[in-house]
Amino acid sequence: MQTILTKSPAAAAEFIRRGGIVAFPTETVYGLGANVFDEKAVASIFEAKMRPADNPLIAHVANLAQIKLLAKEITPDAQKFIEAFFPAPLTLVLPKAEKVPLVATANLDTIGVRMPKNKLAQEFLRRCEMPVVAPSANLSGKPSPTGWQAVYEDLNGRIDCILQGEATEIGLESTVVDCTADVPLVLRSGAISLEDLQKIVPETKLYQVKENEAVKSPGLKHRHYSPRAKVVLISDFGFRVSDSSAFIGLSKPPEKFDLVKICASAAEYAHEVFAFFRQCDHARIKTIYCETTEEKGIGLALMDRLRRASEN
Ligand code: TXA
Ligand code: MG
Repeated sequence: MQTILTKSPAAAAEFIRRGGIVAFPTETVYGLGANVFDEKAVASIFEAKMRPADNPLIAHVANLAQIKLLAKEITPDAQKFIEAFFPAPLTLVLPKAEKVPLVATANLDTIGVRMPKNKLAQEFLRRCEMPVVAPSANLSGKPSPTGWQAVYEDLNGRIDCILQGEATEIGLESTVVDCTADVPLVLRSGAISLEDLQKIVPETKLYQVKENEAVKSPGLKHRHYSPRAKVVLISDFGFRVSDSSAFIGLSKPPEKFDLVKICASAAEYAHEVFAFFRQCDHARIKTIYCETTEEKGIGLALMDRLRRASEN
């Protein structure tokens, strides 16, 4: 398959309307989209990414009216979050409408819904004239793509089109909140922080996997965000640096590394980390030392991704 590169949201949307799959920028990471109601197109997303079939997709909307096509009910908590935040790097899990094919939700009776804030994403979605399901546009298990070049690296020849936008503003995937339980549960942390959510619904809490309970967000159990290099989390510099190693964090390291990225804030760290992982793989780095950060605001999401990357 030939992958077309374009800067035109209209041209990219045309591929969706004809049953194709298209990578597009959002404010979090690039997504790989298909018409939510086209089962064949949705199935081809799983194939192109080599994504496990039990990992549900997020549906992206251009406006509030489209949410009604996807969700059977907008729960009161979800309504509050929509009014407070949408469009935003925030995904709300709602009871699924009958019409949404089960292939999109990995057989769940719920669906994740998000309205991106990125202007090019909005223009693209408007022109698709239907909700678009999209996981991150990387090969399954690799770091999420924060620029179109990373999408190209993973998926050239496997998808119809890449809509070329800027590097993404945030760099980590959206916050996912289950709004179908008694209280809102944060299934995945992101740029809309727990503190932000609690200002709107104070009962909101982080979801903790209980033993013997089916995982609420199947994506959380899969291998994630991993460069080929080994990822090691550090909180000080009292260790011996091994061969071909890299460092990313907020402090200036005293030792010598082959690649170094010093970030001015947790937000910049979040913005840079996935691209840095890919850069390290290109440079054949063997070990990436990642400095830990305070688990507050975006720092909580950042630490979540760093831990997952270090577990592989
Ligand atoms: O920022 C983002 O969310 C990006 C951009 C493209 O929007 N998308 C993204 O998609 O990160 P993906 O597929 O890589 O991650 C989706 C996450 C997974 O952890 C999945 O398990 C969870 O959302 N999820 C999706 N639908 C769900 C549902 N119905 N119930 C529970 N979790 C769900
Ligand atoms: Mg992903």
